[in-house]
Amino acid sequence: MSGPNASERPAGEATSASAKPGPALAGGQAGVPANAPVSAPSDASFHRPATAATSNPPTATEAVIELADVRKVYRQILAPAARPGGFARLFGRKPRANAPSLPQSPDPNTPPPLEAPGGGGVEVLTGIDLTIRAGEFVALQGTSGSGKSTLLHLLGLLDTPTSGTYRLLGRDVSGLSDEEASALRGSALGFVFQSFYLVPYATALENVMLPGLYTDRPEAELRQRARALLAQVGLADRMDFKPANLSGGQQQRVAMARALLNAPRVILADEPTGQLDSATSAEIMRLFASVNAGGTTIVLVTHDEQVAARAQRIIRIVDGRIVDDAAAGPTPAPGRDKTKP
Ligand SMILES: Nc1ncnc2c1ncn2[C@@H]1O[C@H](COP(=O)(O)OP(=O)(O)O)[C@@H](O)[C@H]1O
Ligand SMILES: [Mg+2]
Repeated sequence: MSGPNASERPAGEATSASAKPGPALAGGQAGVPANAPVSAPSDASFHRPATAATSNPPTATEAVIELADVRKVYRQILAPAARPGGFARLFGRKPRANAPSLPQSPDPNTPPPLEAPGGGGVEVLTGIDLTIRAGEFVALQGTSGSGKSTLLHLLGLLDTPTSGTYRLLGRDVSGLSDEEASALRGSALGFVFQSFYLVPYATALENVMLPGLYTDRPEAELRQRARALLAQVGLADRMDFKPANLSGGQQQRVAMARALLNAPRVILADEPTGQLDSATSAEIMRLFASVNAGGTTIVLVTHDEQVAARAQRIIRIVDGRIVDDAAAGPTPAPGRDKTKP
């Protein structure tokens, strides 16, 4: 399969030898602080919206993501540079006046979209029904091209479904303006990607502060919180390093700290370990488990069995359809959650 995910390895290549879903951040991991779980530092001004103060994690029954018969048909083939994503879309629309200039998206040289072959478009999600509850750690697993990234883009309000309904935090998001979607995305969601997407000319600390530059929070406060988060992900001694001087695993830790800056309810991660060796990948997955133990819901896309096994629930996607949804771990309970509303 070629395309944007050409670097993916086929599912099943990874062995399951060390796929042990263990306790979150059980100390002793190199570079990872033992004082788990990772969650918002106790800074009153960064508390989540009223429904979910950090000191009072949401109940396990509250639905944060509800999809009903969601379909996605691509009617145009977009060049990669014009695809959903980009810093402005991720964090907000209007950086404040003194914000650093950010990479532009889409690229002004992007070729115009082509009509999809056949005129009718390519249906990549074919009727997704899915409920994810507060505090869950869900892996979306499927081979390359199965529609995982498309689904994650929809969940992240980076793209819109062709039909069906999506409720995020109890709110129907279908009618939101671009501006409203950006605001909701910036306050409720955090993103982590395979290629990290750090700003190369900014330090680790500045990268983590980035989502805050789209809010009204004072810079000193952002800096303080970014420092606290970098310390929590084990990078207290790398705050002033630029991405080029950090390892892949360290860059992904920076990206995770950045995703946590605005104390999101949900973290959406697309192949976050796709560029990492297996040991580093295991470290990053422990960090995700730790973040989840702090009360943040996690939806993590992977084609890798071993990575998926670190989650609590694994949803398998084939050709844009959910074919399996079950608890993860060595003794899965088949069918769990399938019948839940
Ligand atoms: N912008 C787009 N335009 C047309 N087709 C697309 C676009 N993005 C993805 N696709 C197609 O949708 C399918 C699913 O892609 P994707 O969601 O990226 O899969 P995955 O993340 O599981 O590898 C693929 O066949 C891909 O070619
Ligand atoms: Mg993908």
